[in-house]
Amino acid sequence: MTGLFDSAQVGAIHLNNRIIMAPLTRSRAAQDGIPTDMHIEYYKQRADNGLIVTEGTFFEDINRAFLGQPGIATAEQQEGWRKVAQAVHEQGSEIVMQIMHGGRLTLPSINGFDQGESSSAIAPGVTLHGAEGREEVPTPVALDSEGIERVVRKFTEGARRAIDAGMDGVEVHGANGYLLHQFLAPSSNHRTDEYGGSPENRARLAIEVIRSIADEIGADRLGLRISPMHNIQGCMEEDENDVRATYKALLDGIADLNIAYLSVLYQDAESDLVAFLRESFGGFMILNTGFGTETELDEARHIVEDDLADGVAVGREIIANPDLSYRWKNDLPLNPIDSDTFYTPGPHGYIDYPMAGQE
Ligand SMILES: Cc1cc2nc3c(=O)[nH]c(=O)nc-3n(C[C@H](O)[C@H](O)[C@H](O)COP(=O)(O)O)c2cc1C
Repeated sequence: MTGLFDSAQVGAIHLNNRIIMAPLTRSRAAQDGIPTDMHIEYYKQRADNGLIVTEGTFFEDINRAFLGQPGIATAEQQEGWRKVAQAVHEQGSEIVMQIMHGGRLTLPSINGFDQGESSSAIAPGVTLHGAEGREEVPTPVALDSEGIERVVRKFTEGARRAIDAGMDGVEVHGANGYLLHQFLAPSSNHRTDEYGGSPENRARLAIEVIRSIADEIGADRLGLRISPMHNIQGCMEEDENDVRATYKALLDGIADLNIAYLSVLYQDAESDLVAFLRESFGGFMILNTGFGTETELDEARHIVEDDLADGVAVGREIIANPDLSYRWKNDLPLNPIDSDTFYTPGPHGYIDYPMAGQE
């Protein structure tokens, strides 16, 4: 039986255990998007866990999705991340960068453009937190074929910069209603060209992005995150047959590459859908059951020990407990989670959670 604290080698990426720090947006960067000394400290503190996945990072200004989001679009941002990667490596752990295109989920005060870009010119019908408080998200521009080519190229350049910064790998964000999910989900993709309509067509952009990045950095350093039927931020996937066909098309379209891992966010770990995705992928699968309740030790153990997945992504408990793996392994009490400081600027709630024994 595989245990939660067993190490693993996934492609070129090494995990000290099966507890993976989930990608977590923390909004602590300045407008320049350069990781700061605070970012170095934050990730270094959490290097005790099996693997770190960074917060979703933008690779071009237009795809910024949050205020305070760090980037991997410039040499200066790359240099900031180099220090983060180095600090994590000095603790004996590895770190993967999640790179993302927010698509339509942005505001002029976040990305500096009047509109975001998406599969179709359909507003998500949600508000986002901008410079002046919550604002309605504008209708995006539908990407044309040159725009799609640019997105694939820029995604790939961002991945290259991440590896050049010393990251051990790159995770493509295909989840949670951001650009690639906006192409996958029928509610947000009304295109009539080869990127819309059938499951195969809606999966095409994600496949092109993955294939292009694998070609650039090597598939053994590449992961993909998906969240089928998450039904969040206006990306609705309500027909399970269509969902299976769409994600099967995506996984079939990258099967020959053998990417390092697939990270799935789905609420029910024991569902047929999770089993279907795992079988369709065939490689190392990381699971997270989403925002309903925080991932706790019992659930994490159940997922790995009962072979529902190969690893578990843990979010909020690792925000509050930098040394979560150590605490879980030794049955130690946990710090309470302060959700009020998830996205606030400054060190409080970011780098001042105590380690075990220092409370
Ligand atoms: C503050 C916060 C920020 C998040 N940012 C991201 C992100 O940048 N990329 C991503 O794929 N998921 C993001 N998520 C989702 C988490 O990776 C994870 O799926 C979620 O927290 C549920 O896991 P948990 O119950 O262990 O916290 C975020 C969640 C939270 C709470």
